[in-house]
Amino acid sequence: MRIIVTGGAGFIGSAVIRKIVKDTDWIVHNIDKLTYAGNLLSLGEAQDSERVFFSRLDICDKTGTERVFRDFRPHAVMHLAAESHVDRSIDDPGEFISTNIVGTYTLLEVARSYWGELDAKGKKSFKFHHISTDEVFGSLGHQGYFTEETRYQPNSPYAASKAGSDHLVRAWNKTYGLPIVITNCSNNYGPYQYPEKLIPLMIQKAISGDALPVYGAGDNVRDWLYVEDHAAALLLALQKGKTGEVYNIGGNSEKTNIEVVKTLCLELDKLSPSKGGVSYSAQISYVEDRPGHDKRYAIDCTKIKHELGWIPKETFNSGIVKTIKWYLDNEEWCRQAMVNYQGQRLGTSGS
Ligand code: NAD
Ligand code: DAU
Repeated sequence: MRIIVTGGAGFIGSAVIRKIVKDTDWIVHNIDKLTYAGNLLSLGEAQDSERVFFSRLDICDKTGTERVFRDFRPHAVMHLAAESHVDRSIDDPGEFISTNIVGTYTLLEVARSYWGELDAKGKKSFKFHHISTDEVFGSLGHQGYFTEETRYQPNSPYAASKAGSDHLVRAWNKTYGLPIVITNCSNNYGPYQYPEKLIPLMIQKAISGDALPVYGAGDNVRDWLYVEDHAAALLLALQKGKTGEVYNIGGNSEKTNIEVVKTLCLELDKLSPSKGGVSYSAQISYVEDRPGHDKRYAIDCTKIKHELGWIPKETFNSGIVKTIKWYLDNEEWCRQAMVNYQGQRLGTSGS
């Protein structure tokens, strides 16, 4: 099978390609613009595989994208390329509209035209898999879960741009018959996550002796999933997911932000004690809240578990230890990432 993966130099896309190379005989063409968030080092050994090709390309570039489809002749597309950080979307929404909405539209048009020229068998087996987020559903109160039927209510520019892309993908299926599947996932964590996101940012700041900036009261809740469990769910949804269907993916692992940060500090105290012997938790500092900060996300992932047989392998405790060890052992990757961003506060310009 030949697969186009967009955003394959990013956090989740690289985990998908590493898994494809390890567990299948598929051939991959990675389309990635290599923004500040993309790094080919994140592919690890898969970067050198003869089954992995790469084009540095913006998904808004229709001609370039058409060329890759024409030359590579994919059986499926896994679309992960996106601007992905909520705080950056508050400061500067333009790139989010461009990549997440216009880029997805461009890719859909290229895929539709390519798909339209396949023979009947190729048409039937083709799949456009759109990788999306639970943030499209907005915010939960203390009770309840996001299901595949939850009403869309995006609150940040990032979430709105992803909601827009989900609607486009759905429409290309309903109107043109393009075979699609959409997955909406909760917060991922694990190796190779860009250190602007909560968990890797806190690890970097802790070991650098900086304050650990917890937004608001630290009582917002996220549902954490280890990235390799997400990658496994994505490969399953691509292969076994029903055309036109949506699947929610989540970790069943709700934590308040302050719980996450305190857990990180305790584990770091064991794995890499601070020089003065003081717990990293002494560095915790409550700061001004994120504008429009969603209170709680929690996923009901019954559908993907029952219909496709997906079972996550990691618990939060096992995954977080692996993650901390990875960041402690991969200083060079972190150094390269921090060339573009030094940990300053982002996303306050909405208040
Ligand atoms: P990321 O920011 O780590 O990586 C995004 C990748 O896309 C980068 O390699 C970047 O270079 C590339 N890219 C950005 N703009 C591009 C463009 N115009 N053309 C081509 N490539 C471009 O993101 P991630 O965390 O790996 O997220 C991947 C996808 O999964 C996104 O669609 C995101 O919305 C979704 N998602 C993420 C999470 C999460 O917790 N990180 C959870 C659910 C869904
Ligand atoms: O739910 C899925 C989404 O999860 C994905 O679609 C996004 O791409 C991904 O970035 C993530 O969005 P969040 O906004 O939830 O992730 P972030 O790591 O930015 O923040 C997690 C929580 O931690 C959130 O409640 C804000 C808080 N936070 C974040 C940072 C960066 C802090 O308290 N301090 C911080 O410095």
